[in-house]
Amino acid sequence: MKLGPIAPGPRGDFLLGNLRAFRRDVLGLMLKSAREYGDVVRFRLGPLVVHLLSHPDQVEYVLQSARNYDKATRSSAKISSICGSSLLTSNGEPWKRQRRLMQPSFHRQQIAGMGADMILLTAGMLERWQAAQLRGQAVDIAAEMMRLTYRIVAKTLMGAEGESDSSAIEQAITALLAHTYRRWGKVIDWPAYVPTPGNLRFRRALQVVDQIVYRIIAEHRADRGKRNFLSALLEERDGETGDAFSDSDLRNESITFLLAGHETTANALAWTFYLLSQNPDVEQQLRAELSTELGGRPPTVEDLSRLSFTTMVIQESMRLYPPIWALERRAIADDLIGGFFIPAGSSVVISPYVVHRKEEFWPEAERFDPTRFSRRQRAYIPFGSGQRLCIGSEFAMMEARLILAMVLQAWHLEFLPGDAVTPEPGITLRPKNGLRMRVSPAR
Ligand code: HEM
Repeated sequence: MKLGPIAPGPRGDFLLGNLRAFRRDVLGLMLKSAREYGDVVRFRLGPLVVHLLSHPDQVEYVLQSARNYDKATRSSAKISSICGSSLLTSNGEPWKRQRRLMQPSFHRQQIAGMGADMILLTAGMLERWQAAQLRGQAVDIAAEMMRLTYRIVAKTLMGAEGESDSSAIEQAITALLAHTYRRWGKVIDWPAYVPTPGNLRFRRALQVVDQIVYRIIAEHRADRGKRNFLSALLEERDGETGDAFSDSDLRNESITFLLAGHETTANALAWTFYLLSQNPDVEQQLRAELSTELGGRPPTVEDLSRLSFTTMVIQESMRLYPPIWALERRAIADDLIGGFFIPAGSSVVISPYVVHRKEEFWPEAERFDPTRFSRRQRAYIPFGSGQRLCIGSEFAMMEARLILAMVLQAWHLEFLPGDAVTPEPGITLRPKNGLRMRVSPAR
């Protein structure tokens, strides 16, 4: 047993601890507490003890020590209610096996082959914006990005197309995530089997997702000619037992990738368009790079290595608005971090939103300045770190750069004055009330 002093933290209510303050403004509370109390802050959420860590050394320590810190957490349990046990939520040997099987599908060469679909689907969206422009209507960029990235992940990983499936499943996933986040914020809650209106809506949304996903799996079983991530999983056999993935394993992994692979990138892009609209000099520099490197033709995957400023713009946008704003781990045994006691079974939270705003690593942290990324940066974890590093990071960076380049080549986006944009922390960090922008042809 390791013993040490209890970390400092904001005082809360006798019973609920800091729960009310967390619910009111979790981002503000975490940021303020890290500045006031230091790199290790202790919170109490009802009966739960949670430590917020924000020094990059401590962050690395926790994310690299899978044996001491795992993902058997409350947030994983909540997400499992949607996608069951999968790459995102499992631990130990089952996780290792899944990751080994799936990693090859996400190697750079594999991903490169998906570029053509990303470009095609983006071109379709850009064409549709013409109608909005002619009618003088604003476009909700956040919603458009959500739709586009959903279609991309569904098409590239599972060969899924079709307007009605797309909107049904995308809406259902949004409802599932919102319900899950609401439940995450409650220490005491009705169990999922109690037919509260929220639980009933959750079940209906899950049925919609299940129906479509199981149908896509059946289509892949019937037609072995399909070539994508799902078909690769279908062919996999366990090295020891020779067992194949069951339909319910495939369902869990498919839903996981639909979930993890679209809202994140969509929000990264929405924030990027917002930040560019507020920083016209950066936008100009970005347009100059696109014009020099592409000369007006659409980008290809091969062009991306030359679009260095485009890459930096997305990196800087994910610094200020990391789509995954908090990572949670469970301490398996008692530990000491920064000299403070971390009890076994308690939660440790790492917030990219807080780490990315630490002034000692990010001078003038609130300023949007992509050139910071002309140097290697240490306190930067939008995709996590260690074993559980995002498996889709290459996919996401390729997709985000292609979309950003294509949108800017075709359109100028102007943020409508009077609309306030506030970050809303759900499962991902999104602009509250969307992001309405006026589109006009790029000059
Ligand atoms: C900008 C976009 C994205 C961001 C910011 C992002 C962020 C993250 C982060 C921070 C983690 C680690 C969570 C933790 O350690 O607890 C993660 C894991 C994961 N991400 Fe992403 N992600 C993005 C896009 C994607 C895409 C496009 C896919 C799939 C196509 C994907 C699939 C996954 C999966 C399956 C995991 C779990 C990996 C594991 O535990 O082995 N993500 N992501």
